[in-house]
Amino acid sequence: MSEIIRTIITTEDGSPSLYDPQLGETYHSRHGAIQESTHVFIQAGLDHRQTHSLRALTVLEIGFGTGLNAALAIQHALDKEYPLHLASIEKYPLTAEEQTAFLAHSNEHIRPALQKVLEAPWGQDTSINTLIQLTKIQGDATVVQLPACDVLFLDAFAPAVCPELWTPEMMVKYADCLRLGGILVTYSAKGEVRRAMEAAGLQTERLAGPPGKREMLRATKISTP
Ligand SMILES: C[S@@+](CC[C@H](N)C(=O)[O-])C[C@H]1O[C@@H](n2cnc3c(N)ncnc32)[C@H](O)[C@@H]1O
Repeated sequence: MSEIIRTIITTEDGSPSLYDPQLGETYHSRHGAIQESTHVFIQAGLDHRQTHSLRALTVLEIGFGTGLNAALAIQHALDKEYPLHLASIEKYPLTAEEQTAFLAHSNEHIRPALQKVLEAPWGQDTSINTLIQLTKIQGDATVVQLPACDVLFLDAFAPAVCPELWTPEMMVKYADCLRLGGILVTYSAKGEVRRAMEAAGLQTERLAGPPGKREMLRATKISTP
């Protein structure tokens, strides 16, 4: 396989993201990486579920990428002091050089949590503190068995670029691993994505998207098959 050369970009809220020239894709919205992650995954996903939950939460992320969503999720659990287990799957982890560059460009508020998630080893459970655990899984999300979760961050590249993570079959796989009452959140609001979620038995909502994006999707598991 040819070498992957990804470059750091600065998004409009000042936070960094990565650009993959081979795919022509950025890892986050150019309108603001932290802004998008916070809006879609933390507020509409984790915070929404945590507010309605009395127990420990398990989050599963599809696409660990730069670790930004993971770091923001851990920061959320640290701030609100609740038990969290975060599992995140990645097929093409960043190189050590890319991690160092991404950290160096990140602001000091998120850097400590980001450093923890980037330095955590793959393939084992890492305790962030007594309440919070992180499991980074290196592998292909279409192949690995997905752990049961309460919140699923579907943060794959866009369906046009990475269609295998958005198929109706994958939506069934995502729905199967969600616990009853669990939610899937994603930045995509495409009609075919929403229809695949509905066909997998999930109840979908179109929510206001982050800056630069009119809508996003949240899907809830309201019954078991
Ligand atoms: C939009 S980026 C994720 C951004 C990430 N959540 C963050 O906070 O930086 C999509 C990620 O999915 C990964 N990916 C692509 N195909 C995959 C697959 N089949 N299984 C798991 N991860 C995959 C890419 O390498 C990339 O890191």
